[in-house]
Amino acid sequence: MIWIGKGVRTVEAMNLTVALTGASGAIFSRELLRALEADERVSRVHFVASENSLRVLAEELGLSGRSGLVEKLLGAPPIKTVQLSDSDIGAAIASGSHPSGGMIVLPCSMGTLAAIANGLANSLITRAADVTLKERRPLLLCVRETPFNRIHLRNMTLAAEAGAVIFPVIPAFYFKPADSTVMARQFVCRVLAHIGLPQPGTYVWKADE
Ligand SMILES: Cc1cc2nc3c(=O)[nH]c(=O)nc-3n(C[C@H](O)[C@H](O)[C@H](O)COP(=O)(O)O)c2cc1C
Repeated sequence: MIWIGKGVRTVEAMNLTVALTGASGAIFSRELLRALEADERVSRVHFVASENSLRVLAEELGLSGRSGLVEKLLGAPPIKTVQLSDSDIGAAIASGSHPSGGMIVLPCSMGTLAAIANGLANSLITRAADVTLKERRPLLLCVRETPFNRIHLRNMTLAAEAGAVIFPVIPAFYFKPADSTVMARQFVCRVLAHIGLPQPGTYVWKADE
């Protein structure tokens, strides 16, 4: 992302990191990957799924195994999305020298939130998040749990104080989504607008219509 002149922001071809963790809401991650694959402003998506996310993927989307996961989520071979192992702490996204437009953790479990908030950096997901924060790049933590205990709330505050955006998986209902895919897609539109990638088809509330 670059800034031109008096605060005019344009988006150059962007690398983004997407992490999927073991919180409920795999459908949101699927819609995020689909939107990024279709977005010409995005050149490369590095995708990391935690070990525990696989259990949730099986429960929620009926997808099994790590192999070919991106293709299974997209429903087509990926063009720009590369899957990395969460144990590969030597991957490019583990270094601040790798150019990146930011990182989205969707959904973000309370376990991963805790690790990021406390700087554990002991897996690729948590290391890449740590790097994103230290490089002052956008880090969106789409947390999902209910209800929150005090540890969750403290960790959200810690992460926010370190520069992360707490972007809870709380979809909107005022546009009367026809199904969960539409609901997830519109949530993803809000996420991507937040990092400078407004999407076609985003519902915009107009109070007088
Ligand atoms: C079906 C299912 C749903 C879950 N939903 C959540 C959730 O919404 N939020 C959460 O924090 N953990 C949830 N968990 C628990 C996490 O998967 C678990 O804490 C795990 O250790 C997180 O690991 P990770 O952060 O490395 O992916 C769920 C587990 C299962 C099996």
